[in-house]
Amino acid sequence: MKPISMRLLETAFALSMLSLPCTATAQSQPPVPEGGTPIAPAKPGNKTFTPPPATSIPDEEFGQIVKKGQDIFMQTGQYAKDYVGNSLNCVNCHLDAGRRPDASPLWAAYVLYPAFRSKNGHVNTLAERPQGCFQYSMNGAAPPADSETIVALESYMYWMAQQAPTGVKLEGQGYPRLAKPAQKPDYVRGKAVFTQNCALCHGAEGQGQSAQGKMVFPPLWGDESFNWGAGMHSVSTAAAFIKANMPLGKGGSLTDQQSWDVALYMNSHERPQDPRHKGSLEETRKKYHDDPSDLYGQTVNGKVLGENSTPSGGSLRAADS
Ligand code: HEC
Ligand code: HEC
Repeated sequence: MKPISMRLLETAFALSMLSLPCTATAQSQPPVPEGGTPIAPAKPGNKTFTPPPATSIPDEEFGQIVKKGQDIFMQTGQYAKDYVGNSLNCVNCHLDAGRRPDASPLWAAYVLYPAFRSKNGHVNTLAERPQGCFQYSMNGAAPPADSETIVALESYMYWMAQQAPTGVKLEGQGYPRLAKPAQKPDYVRGKAVFTQNCALCHGAEGQGQSAQGKMVFPPLWGDESFNWGAGMHSVSTAAAFIKANMPLGKGGSLTDQQSWDVALYMNSHERPQDPRHKGSLEETRKKYHDDPSDLYGQTVNGKVLGENSTPSGGSLRAADS
């Protein structure tokens, strides 16, 4: 008999293979992306783009950097350890090596930058997106724009987007937004959804699971997960991701209401501090979290979220001292 985590790994792998190649569902996409720059909306003509197969990465100088970018994307803590403070990998939220439509695929992102983003109020270069995910989603530090880490990731994105039109929102970009639920998202209902549909893989405490020292199912909250500055901490973003992609291999199986409820439950737990926090929870909330979909600084079950967070930076902080 194999240990439970190995069997789960095989099941998860089989499930994720089953759901390959994704045919995009006919979602009605909002015309303005999360960034806020008005661009051409996804039209029926903008058919889901199919990136080239990984086996076609050329075996020369450029291909070697593309391959390096892929390695960083898949095993971030191993190949970019100086910038990672938790146990997540890029691929945990950008599924199928960054290829899957509706899981914020890299090919769709590549063609949208530079773009204005309301999150930080300026025109962002392509490099700033992976940099931001290192700082927040990976609870780490932003690699310099000209570092080999960013150059390799940009090369991987460029290679994947070859022959895609630029400046066009392709079908499958980002996580397809969910309409507001009929009922206000609810913690108790969310907990029930979690116990039934998520705990098997992500653990009863959302702590994830490892096998042979390797993270197999990523943590959803706590010190090893994304921090309070990450996009996934917003209940609406998490609900959209979950609806389209979770439980792994069964994306689309939860109702919209269940997705909102479980997203609220997940994000009602403590996680590492927002790196932009300068000492005052109220000020940080007002400046960066002033949104009804954002639980940072709100009281849940008698506790103010963000008040008992460990400082941001995770294992990088430990390595410093
Ligand atoms: C905890 C989940 C998570 C992890 C881990 C993560 N990201 Fe992201 N990433 C997001 C979210 C959420 C967004 C915003 C997507 C949206 O709202 O459409 C995003 C956006 C992006 C975008 C822009 C996508 C677009 O279409 O504009 C890029 C590029 C990106 N991430 C790269 C990375 C890289 C590289 C890593 C690893 C260093 C990484 N991400 C790790 C959640 C994550
Ligand atoms: C069959 C196992 C399985 C089940 C069940 C499952 N997940 Fe996941 N989940 C995964 C795996 C594996 C990944 C990482 C995907 C990858 O790296 O390709 C993941 C990634 C995630 C992520 C992004 C990474 C992170 O840690 O933040 C979130 C959020 C998430 N799952 C939430 C949920 C929720 C909510 C449910 C229940 C509705 C759920 N999952 C059910 C296996 C599962």
